[in-house]
Amino acid sequence: MRATTDPQDAAAALATGHLAALPTETVYGLGARADDPHAIARIYAAKGRPADHPLIVHLADIDALDAWGTNIPIYAYQLARAFWPGPITLVINRSLKAADFITGGQDSVAVRVSAHPLMQEVQQALILLTDDQAIGIAAPSANRFGRVSPTNVKHVLDELGAFTNENDVVLDGGDCAVGVESTIIDCTGDHPRLLRPGAVSLEQVQAITGLPCTTDSTVRASGTLQSHYSPVAVVELITEAQLLNRDFEDATVGLIALAACVTPTGVVRLCAPQTSTDYAQQLYAALREADALKLTSVLAVPPDPEGIGAAIVDRLTRAAHSN
Ligand code: TXA
Ligand code: MG
Repeated sequence: MRATTDPQDAAAALATGHLAALPTETVYGLGARADDPHAIARIYAAKGRPADHPLIVHLADIDALDAWGTNIPIYAYQLARAFWPGPITLVINRSLKAADFITGGQDSVAVRVSAHPLMQEVQQALILLTDDQAIGIAAPSANRFGRVSPTNVKHVLDELGAFTNENDVVLDGGDCAVGVESTIIDCTGDHPRLLRPGAVSLEQVQAITGLPCTTDSTVRASGTLQSHYSPVAVVELITEAQLLNRDFEDATVGLIALAACVTPTGVVRLCAPQTSTDYAQQLYAALREADALKLTSVLAVPPDPEGIGAAIVDRLTRAAHSN
């Protein structure tokens, strides 16, 4: 996989059936054109991902929504208008455009419009190259299955360099601004259902739609497996009070916590974000740093579960779940 800074270069790779790892505002995605079964199969192989786990299709803009879905509820349009381009994914009943090799054979498809300017340039360039206004880029997070999502180009190359070839590219868009994956909302029922928390909160979804947003979806989502987003180091959630009462003799323990939390002697501070927003942005790089330093365990003091704090608590809980 070779790095590039040119969105045209990435679009050309996609158009000709190669993979392109792409920056989004949440995390980097491993992209392929959504109408190419061979390229999509290579995404699954590169990630080591089971074939029945569906992919998110990235669209250029809200106008492409109708081409990908059927019976789309009004509240889904309200969410798309309010938050796209941005960090929210909508699961809708699929149209014929969403093939089985994208949806894992499910009757729904996940779609989103990314706000990253380079991603938007890639989408526009691919429209011109394919002459399809609604062309989608299928892109799961650009990590090996079950591991921590990448938030910069180095992470992508570390994860997937060995599982891609010299015709595949990674587009350098710098560090991702949000740092955790998009909020996923199941829009196949009579009201919105939260599948995965992200930067757009459940409360925001309720405010925009005027409907309750529940968490009782039966639709499958792999990011909702209990054990996911895991580094090699063992992750443990801890309160600040518990942290201060513990003894640390060996120096192989890392700490992730807001800046206001002190670092006990003998512990390696992995990040010290000022706010929950910064916490989300720095979280995955901190987990990777723990592995780079060969730490055996990471202690994480979660932020309040408000707003993006809910997504951080969700990811930390899954990272902490062993097996
Ligand atoms: O922020 C993000 O969403 C990133 C960037 C690259 O866009 N993408 C991402 O993709 O996190 P991935 O594949 O790592 O996670 C997508 C999640 C998976 O848990 C998958 O199971 C779920 O979306 N998903 C995809 N299609 C679905 C569908 N039709 N129904 C339910 N869940 C679906
Ligand atoms: Mg993922």
